Amino acid sequence: MEFRRITNLPPYVFTIINNLKIAARQDGVDVVDLGFGNPDIPSPDIAVEKLVEAARNPRNHRYSISRGLPKLREAVAGMYKRNWNVDLDPELQITNTIGAKEGFSHLMWVLLDKGDVAVVPAPSYPIHIYGPLFAGADIRQVPMRSQQNPDDPEQFAKFSEDFFGSLTNACDSENPKPRVLVVSFPHNPTGATVDLPFMQRLVDFCREREMIVVHDFAYADIGFDGYQPPSILQAEGALECAVELYSMTKGFSMAGWRCAFLVGNTSVVQALVKLKSYLDYGIFQPIQIAATVTIDEASGVPKEVCAIYESRRDVLCSGLKKIGWDVPKPRGSMFVWARIPEQYSEMNSVEFCSHLVSECHVALSPGSGFGPGGEGFARFALIENEQRIQQALRNLTLHMRPVH
Ligand SMILES: Cc1ncc(COP(=O)(O)O)c(C=O)c1O
Repeated sequence: MEFRRITNLPPYVFTIINNLKIAARQDGVDVVDLGFGNPDIPSPDIAVEKLVEAARNPRNHRYSISRGLPKLREAVAGMYKRNWNVDLDPELQITNTIGAKEGFSHLMWVLLDKGDVAVVPAPSYPIHIYGPLFAGADIRQVPMRSQQNPDDPEQFAKFSEDFFGSLTNACDSENPKPRVLVVSFPHNPTGATVDLPFMQRLVDFCREREMIVVHDFAYADIGFDGYQPPSILQAEGALECAVELYSMTKGFSMAGWRCAFLVGNTSVVQALVKLKSYLDYGIFQPIQIAATVTIDEASGVPKEVCAIYESRRDVLCSGLKKIGWDVPKPRGSMFVWARIPEQYSEMNSVEFCSHLVSECHVALSPGSGFGPGGEGFARFALIENEQRIQQALRNLTLHMRPVH
């Protein structure tokens, strides 16, 4: 049977590795799972306590408000002011979404139609590619290079020039002109990070071309070595052309709660509010209440969560270096993006990751799952603790081909 929009979807390559992992675990093998980016750190106590308390009140059992309770939107405005010195109007420039993924997908419905084009980096988080396609639009991909050392000004300048060169080409040399640019920093899967001047350049670029820039800021709180990821809304003129998705999934480690926000340009935010008022009744009100209190009263949590990912990154990167697998140390995100060692050059990324599950009992995500720009790479997610990462490193040391 043919199904519109999904029949031609390629199989989700992450499922292949996940199934291998499940089968190995069923056979009693202890696979260290660094594949799926599913946070393992418990959500803050205050969130759980408030959820329980609010869930006991039957008044909170009814439909809620799709765009989020006023106090929740005020809490988000407060957080943006505290963290990024950005002023947002909670009434017009903030709406709640059911996670960033839902927010992004429906935003593409609002912004794009058949025949429109969105520019998306390659590689990308899969919904950044499929969201525009589900909306009936086409995508044009621009390469996102991995960064060896983003702190080195020369290397960073080269990264920026490459990116803006490809972006200019994608936007100015082909018709139709793109309506939307999708970006996300710290970047999943490459871990690439940028500074505020880079964000300013993005905003200027899109204003000049009357494009909307959508910044998925899922890793807003995950910056290492003193680096704080900038919000695109800090750039001058951003509110004319930019919107940003902030999620409680990573910084507050509240993945299952499905609580994120679209913030920024009033017309775009209000367009999504209108669409969502037809589609949903909002997230469960006790979750909204718990999220409000957590943002207001547990604002230190993201720093604690970030410190955990930072130590895991250190353990993983120095361990990989010791076995000769030299990977760049990312300055943000919860991923390490590793080129497949030359000793395995006959394998593509799915074959390589399948091999690692069966021979080394370590699950990674194959780079090709993030689009063609990801082939030749594998992604480590920092979602097991340091002891488990050490275990993965021991397994790789014992069972990988020597990669020196
Ligand atoms: C770039 C990016 N955006 C969005 C998400 C999902 O966020 P949420 O849980 O808010 O839907 C992820 C999760 O891995 C991500 O990497």
